[in-house]
Amino acid sequence: MMNDFMENGIFKISECRKIAVMGGTFNPIHYGHLVAAEAVRAEFGIERVLFIPTGRPPHKALSVVAPDEQRYLMTVLATAANPYFDVSRMEIDRKGTTYTIDTLRELKKICRPDAQIYFITGADAVNEIFTWREADKLLDMANFVAVTRPGYDKKRLEKNNSMYYLEIPALAISSTDIRDRVKAGKTIKYLLPESVEEYIIKFGLYKNDVAGELVRKIKERLSSVLTNKRYIHTLSTAREAAKLANIFGEDTSKAYIAGLLHDCAKDFSHKLRIEKCKEYNIYLDEVLKKQPDLIHSFLGGAVAEFEYGINDREILDAVKYHTTGRSNMTKLEKIIYLADLIEPERREFDGMKEIKNAAYSDLDYAMLLSLEGTIRVNRERGRLIHPLSIEAYNYYKSK
Ligand SMILES: [Fe+2]
Ligand SMILES: [Fe+2]
Repeated sequence: MMNDFMENGIFKISECRKIAVMGGTFNPIHYGHLVAAEAVRAEFGIERVLFIPTGRPPHKALSVVAPDEQRYLMTVLATAANPYFDVSRMEIDRKGTTYTIDTLRELKKICRPDAQIYFITGADAVNEIFTWREADKLLDMANFVAVTRPGYDKKRLEKNNSMYYLEIPALAISSTDIRDRVKAGKTIKYLLPESVEEYIIKFGLYKNDVAGELVRKIKERLSSVLTNKRYIHTLSTAREAAKLANIFGEDTSKAYIAGLLHDCAKDFSHKLRIEKCKEYNIYLDEVLKKQPDLIHSFLGGAVAEFEYGINDREILDAVKYHTTGRSNMTKLEKIIYLADLIEPERREFDGMKEIKNAAYSDLDYAMLLSLEGTIRVNRERGRLIHPLSIEAYNYYKSK
């Protein structure tokens, strides 16, 4: 019997009293996810399970994450045969960083007011959830079900009464392992639905991870030539750059790589800097001679090219001009310049908040604020200001 409340004999989301949400990157979705969702459905008498593939999170914004659309389609394929399963585009279609609280709020709007929501999540993600800003609100809005693979140490999970735990043997399967297997040319049969396996083969997903490989190599080298503090700043700048790139429609991989490399020459000794400037034909003007700290930026561009094998001009220029700026900068140059200043690991300075706020909405205005600040501070400290910075300041002031 069918009526308005039903689709194929199953309650519509808007009519359900008990809904489960299964969030994840699903990169790719596999039997572990499906078994977990089905187990929670049966255990709690859930009427519908809504799979919500996440938008591309900024820190994972490299080619190792299949494009949103492909992850969404694989999730649709994998869940098609189960009438209780649905897929939502909610997070894929939302621009910018995705927060669970926003997803729950959006879901509340389409659900009955008395509907109970069960949020299914991996055990590792649970610990993170409780460090979030609105953790209390989250717990008011949904029940959380932590699914773990067998043998997962429950002590690692924070003790909490509003949390359910469910051990799912199939969660021994992992997306990372599946990607590694594809890359190594090994079989992935029986780890995920056949339709998803065919999709991965048809579109050649996970075979080439050029950007991921490059990032691994760059990180390995940087961690050995930079001080620990600088390395942390570097990772944070790269993440911030990818975040800005995501907001402004710039290539997130390029931004991440440029962010990683921006200070690659910063911890060279003065002697080594001078030697390398000779080697790479970098002319030391009067300002650079008196303000040797500025050298790392120009030298960094050459080091990124010749020692890290980067041949993308935009990345190299973003590294080169990250300290002085220049007039008419490319989007990527502005992103790196600003990410370096506003990354969350950097100690708060005067005007940082204003620059940060501006950076998320208007790169040019954020540049103007930063350059203004830099010029003012350098003047106060009696330091020389590089002509490129003055040029840049005048340029962004007149925009
Ligand atoms: Fe720098
Ligand atoms: Fe820096």
